[in-house]
Amino acid sequence: MTVAAFSPRIARWLHDHDPSTPCLVLDLDVVTRRYHEQRAALPYATPYYAVKASPEPAVIALLVKLGACFDVASRAEIDLCLANGADPGSLSYGNTIKKSADIAYAHQRGVSTFVFDNVRELDKIAEAAPGAAVYCRLLSESAGARWRLGDNFGCSLEYAVELMTRAAQLGLRPYGLSFHVGSQQLEPARWEPNIAAAAEAFEKLRANDVELEMLNLGGGFPARYAEPVLPIIQFGKAIEQALDRWFPGARRPRIVTEPGRSISAEAGVLRTQVVSVREPFEGADRWVYLDAGRFGGLAETEGEAIQYRVETERGGPTQPVIMAGPTCDSIDVIYRDAAYALPQELEIGDRVDFLSAGAYTASYSSIGFNGFPPLPTHCIGGGS
Ligand SMILES: Cc1ncc(COP(=O)(O)O)c(C=O)c1O
Repeated sequence: MTVAAFSPRIARWLHDHDPSTPCLVLDLDVVTRRYHEQRAALPYATPYYAVKASPEPAVIALLVKLGACFDVASRAEIDLCLANGADPGSLSYGNTIKKSADIAYAHQRGVSTFVFDNVRELDKIAEAAPGAAVYCRLLSESAGARWRLGDNFGCSLEYAVELMTRAAQLGLRPYGLSFHVGSQQLEPARWEPNIAAAAEAFEKLRANDVELEMLNLGGGFPARYAEPVLPIIQFGKAIEQALDRWFPGARRPRIVTEPGRSISAEAGVLRTQVVSVREPFEGADRWVYLDAGRFGGLAETEGEAIQYRVETERGGPTQPVIMAGPTCDSIDVIYRDAAYALPQELEIGDRVDFLSAGAYTASYSSIGFNGFPPLPTHCIGGGS
C-alpha cells in the first residue's frame, strides 16, 4: 500500500513540505475517526485514552474536545492532560508503579482514581491520597498479543479480593478491577477469561460486603500493520457477549477501556531516509541503513514484534534486506528475520515510510543516543 492509498492527506503534506527526516506525521482527523469507531464498537464502555501511546499535545487537546477520559502513567502525563483542558476527574492514574510523592501530587491536582496491584502500593495510596477510588489490576496472560505485557503488573484473584477488602478498611473507595490482555491483541476471545475472573472476584468481595462499581478492560485493541486484523466491532461484540455471560443484567458494573494504539497508530506515518546500503558480500545479506531505527522511534520492532507496512517511492523489482538504524549499536536492527524486501534500485537519500506509526514511536525515541535528536512530530488535519 502506498502512502497515498494509506492517507492521501499525509501523502500530500509530505509532497508539499518535503520535511527533513526522520519525522512522524500525524493526521488528527484519523485520531477523531478512530475514537468514534472505538465508541461505536464498544458503546457500553467509557474509553480512557492511554496517553503513553501518543502524548502529542494536539492529540490530547483533540481528545479532550471529543469528550475522552485519560489513562495517565506519571506526573508529566497528568500535567499534559490538565494543560490541554482535561478535567482532573477524567483522569485515571493507571500505572501500578508510583512514588508516594507522585500519588500526592496527582491527588493535589484533583486526580481521584488510582490503580494498584500490591499491598505497599495500596498503603501508599491510602496515605498520599486519602479517600481516593482505587482499582486492583489482575494478572493477565498476553497470549494472542503481538506486544506482550508480561508479568510486571497484576496480581492473583485471591490477592485482589484480600487487597480490596483492605482498601475499604483503609477508608479508600473500593472502586473496581482492571486487566490488560497485551497490546496489539489479535484475538477477541482473549478478554473473556479475564472478565470471568473479575466476576468471580466481584462475587467474593460482595460476600465480604465490598461492592465494586467498575471493571476496566484495558487496552490491547489492534491497529492495522502488515498483517490483517479483525475490525474493532468484532472485539466489541465478543466482549459484550462475555460481559452478558459473566455480569448478567443489573450486575454489570461501569465498563471502562484504556485504548492507546487503536486510537493513534493509524494516524501516523514515520518518514525515514536511506543513509547507507551495504551490498551482499560472500553470501551475506543486503543491509539498508535508515536515519531512524530502534532508538529513533521504531522501538516496537524489538523482537520484530510490530511489523509495519514499509513503503518507498521507488518501483521495480525488490530484494530481501535487513533494515537497520543509524546508531553504532548492534541492537539497532529493525527487521532481520521478518521477510522484508525493498527495491533493488533503492539508493542513498530515498525515503522509506513506515505506515501506522502513530503510536509508541515519538514517545519512545531516545533524547540523544549517538547524538541523534528525538523524533519530531508534525500534526496535520483539523481534528474535527
Ligand atoms: C495500563 C495500560 N493501559 C492501557 C495501555 C494501552 O494499551 P494499547 O495501546 O494496547 O491499547 C497500556 C499499554 O501499555 C497500559 O500499560
